[in-house]
Amino acid sequence: MKLKIWRQANVNAQGEMVSYSVSDVSPDMSFLEMMDMHNEQLIKKGEDPVAFDHDCREGICGMCSMFINGEAHGPDRLVTTCQLHMRKFKDGDTITIEPFRANAFPVIKDLAVDRSAFDRIQQAGGFISVNTSGNTQDANAIPINKHDADKAFDAATCIGCGACVASCKNASAMLFVSAKVSQYALLPQGKVEATDRVLNMVNQMDEEGFGNCTNTGACEVECPKGISLENIARMNKEYLTATIKS
Ligand code: SF4
Ligand code: FES
Repeated sequence: MKLKIWRQANVNAQGEMVSYSVSDVSPDMSFLEMMDMHNEQLIKKGEDPVAFDHDCREGICGMCSMFINGEAHGPDRLVTTCQLHMRKFKDGDTITIEPFRANAFPVIKDLAVDRSAFDRIQQAGGFISVNTSGNTQDANAIPINKHDADKAFDAATCIGCGACVASCKNASAMLFVSAKVSQYALLPQGKVEATDRVLNMVNQMDEEGFGNCTNTGACEVECPKGISLENIARMNKEYLTATIKS
C-alpha cells in the first residue's frame, strides 16, 4: 500500500506530506497495527518513526486521532482509528493520513496533537461536587425516569476524541461540550451546579479558540460514539436559561 503521511517535527516546524510504501499488510490488522508495522520498517531503514497518539486500542480512550482519507477516524462509521481494520482498504490503495487539524489542537509531532484544551473545558465544569467523606448517598436513592437516564448515558459515551472538531469546517467543539453538559443536565444530581457549569464550560470553549457551530452536522456523522446534535440544542437551551438567571 502507499501511505501519504503528514510529517512535522514540532509545533513551529513547517510540515509536509511524505509518501511511503508499506508491505505485508494483512486485512485483519487494525489501522494502528499497520502503522506500527510501518514504523518498524522505517526504524529498520534508520528513519524517524511516525509519531501518533494511542492508548487503549479498544475504542474507549479517545487518543487515536488520525484524519484518514479526509475523514476523522477514516472511512468506517462509529469506530475509532484503533477499531478501523485494513479490510476497509484495497490492495495497492493510497491512504492519506493527517493529524486532527484545528487552531486549538496544535501539532506536537507528525500526527500527535495537543488536545489539552478539552481537559481545560472539562475542568471548568464537567463534574458534580459530592461529599465523598463516607456519607455518599446511594446512587439509586433518587429515582430517574428511564428516558432521561438513557439520554444521559448516551451523552456520557463521548470519549473526548476531538473528531467532531477535526470534521467541522469551523473547528467547533460544540458537540463535545454539549455531550459533557447534557450528561449532567439530564440528571437531578447535575442540576445543582447547572448554571455555573454551562456558563463556565462555554466560556472556556471560546477562550480556547474553537469556532462556532453553523449546524452543518459533520461532527455527528464522524463521531465514533454517535453523539447526537440534539445535545447541542440542549446545551443552547441550558446556556440561554443560565444567562437569564445569572
Ligand atoms: S462528541 Fe464524538 S467526536 Fe466529539 S469528542 Fe465526543 S466522542 Fe469524539
Ligand atoms: S486508542 Fe483508545 S480509542 Fe483508539
